[in-house]
Amino acid sequence: MDRTVASGAADGGSTPLRNVEVYMFKLIDGNSISNDILEELKNKASILNVTGKNRVLVDIFVGDDEASKVYIENKKKKFNFVGLKFNQVNLPSNTTEEELIKTIEKYNNDIDTNAIFVELPLPKHINEKNIIDRIDPCKDVDGFGIKCLGSLIQGASSFFPCTAEGIIELLKRSKIEISGKHCVVIGRSNIVGKPVAILMLNENSTVTICHSKTKDLKSICKSADILIVAIGKPKLIDDSYIKEGAIVIDAGIHRSIVDGKKVICGDVDFDKVAPHTSYITPVPGGVGPMTVTMLIKHCIDTVNYE
Ligand code: GUN
Repeated sequence: MDRTVASGAADGGSTPLRNVEVYMFKLIDGNSISNDILEELKNKASILNVTGKNRVLVDIFVGDDEASKVYIENKKKKFNFVGLKFNQVNLPSNTTEEELIKTIEKYNNDIDTNAIFVELPLPKHINEKNIIDRIDPCKDVDGFGIKCLGSLIQGASSFFPCTAEGIIELLKRSKIEISGKHCVVIGRSNIVGKPVAILMLNENSTVTICHSKTKDLKSICKSADILIVAIGKPKLIDDSYIKEGAIVIDAGIHRSIVDGKKVICGDVDFDKVAPHTSYITPVPGGVGPMTVTMLIKHCIDTVNYE
């Protein structure tokens, strides 16, 4: 671990000097790690193309959610880079649950479709849970269905939720030891908090899951060797939550306009927290790029489930 120990006096020198540890933290660069993985996936995709096993994702988008439109464009670019087919299927916002299920079943049965992704959120009249479990588990590249989540608990191989798996990949590619570490996860969503906690447990970490009703959140966080924050509150976590030298992973993303300028931040107050860490992910450019990258990996891995 890179670390300097600086001597200094907090009050300008009128009391005897005390040692103040200042960590030379390492930035976990999600863009760079994601680009490395995309290059690897591009090679795999070209081998599949040569052997006639090229992969096709069907991306089903119901309605006109603006954030989903941005997400789709971002996905298209990366799929294009890797050389995978991205087949967008747009359905109107008044599509019924039954119509959406019929569409999913059509692609479940289509031998030319290898992967299916349903954009979330769905319009309010459609129950997401009824939809997610209709996707064939061998094509469920989001990893949100019951079969994939069951495999996650069993420690069996399957598709796991992309952001959660991306976090594990960031840690591993940064050569961070997970086994035996105390990992605190803040957040219990089905998409990030719960799956990342199980993945960390499967990597032999000792895991504590915290959420909005947790008592004394700060002291639990202060015992974390690895702190994973996915709580959806801008800059909630400052340095008072951090053990010196901890590893901090920020899965939050919040956009706002300050003084007419677009500002993006995470759930962690980066400027306050970073100097107390050994490794930290920035926002943007940390966890974010990993989600689509893991999705592409899953699309390529569908070849293992045929
Ligand atoms: N919308 C934003 N992120 C996601 C995701 O990871 N999966 C799905 N299905 N929709 C999303």
